[in-house]
Amino acid sequence: MKQFNKIVSDELFEWMRNIRRTIHRRPELGYEEKETAGLISNTLKELGIRHKTGIARTGIVGELMTDKNAPTIAVRADMDALPITEETGLPFSSEAPGIMHACGHDGHVAIALGAATILKENPPEGNVVFIFQPAEENEGGAKPMIEQGALDGVDMIFGGHIETHYNSGTLGIKTGLHTAYTDGFEITITGKGGHAAKPHEAVDAVVIASQLVMNLQTIISREIDPFHPAVITVGHLNAGTAHNVIAEKAVLKGTIRTTDEAVRKQVVGKVKKMASSFSVLHNAVIHVELKPGYPPVINEKRAVEFAWDVAEKLLGGENTIAIPFPTLGGEDFAYYLQKIPGCFVRFGAARKGLENAPSHSPRFDFDEEVLRLGAAYMSELARYAISRIRKK
Ligand code: NI
Repeated sequence: MKQFNKIVSDELFEWMRNIRRTIHRRPELGYEEKETAGLISNTLKELGIRHKTGIARTGIVGELMTDKNAPTIAVRADMDALPITEETGLPFSSEAPGIMHACGHDGHVAIALGAATILKENPPEGNVVFIFQPAEENEGGAKPMIEQGALDGVDMIFGGHIETHYNSGTLGIKTGLHTAYTDGFEITITGKGGHAAKPHEAVDAVVIASQLVMNLQTIISREIDPFHPAVITVGHLNAGTAHNVIAEKAVLKGTIRTTDEAVRKQVVGKVKKMASSFSVLHNAVIHVELKPGYPPVINEKRAVEFAWDVAEKLLGGENTIAIPFPTLGGEDFAYYLQKIPGCFVRFGAARKGLENAPSHSPRFDFDEEVLRLGAAYMSELARYAISRIRKK
């Protein structure tokens, strides 16, 4: 018997599913989550949970305070969607052209509201703060949320992500380093345009860009200690206007993923060095612009212990997965963990026997049973963390 079925009634599950589907239909991009925030605010009002709106533009912080002197735990959900055209064919598909909840943040909101309902009905012996933040996908909404006081008085924070790489009914926990540094870059190559038949009169930005794309990969394969995972991906390359014109300009956009500060500096330094060498080699002007991304999520030891204890109790040891390796994905939950201890987990949501498209795919969907698991887990985890911190 799965314990979490006892904590979340069928009625509460259907209520959460309805919230998830409502938000799914009306996805909003980062810092534009007005309707979503409105729905959250109304729901918290109905639940009788005091909350502040308009934090970091569209963010919300709800407070369930029982005892000023008791520990305070934060439960965090992100609210934003992605600029993707949905292809799931679901009856509650996106009604916003070109925008889709393809990362499960609709589910994260439903889980946090479900946990809030459970904790309101049966309050813990301490305080719980519910953080609904904007813009996880692009600009790192966690940062202004913290700057505007979301973590004030909070002792420990927990969050989770719906994950179709793990089966529904399981939960993944990574000790220590969990996600990567995610630094963006934009390289602009300016050569000299000319006639396609007269290369000697021009500096071909397409050829330089092509060489650069290939050579950037040798930074990873030939320069970095293979025991330190690192990735360079050029995801965007734009150059030229016509088949018979040598392109004057080429623009490359990409991302650098690393898990170690020294390796991060090394890769960034090599990218710059390679660009400046290429500019000398080819008589071009090459400009590198770096866009620092999120720091890594580093789960704190004691918070991991709490997360693990509750997962084993609710789901059983066989459904509690010790994630063996970090992911080179990014997650702005990292900013909270730079301030206070906490743990970020993965809620398994793959449906057996189905395709289970990954997140950020236009066909992404998940097993909605994860809402039941997520709400039961986050509420129990908050309760448990409060009791354990009290005993300290
Ligand atoms: Ni996400």
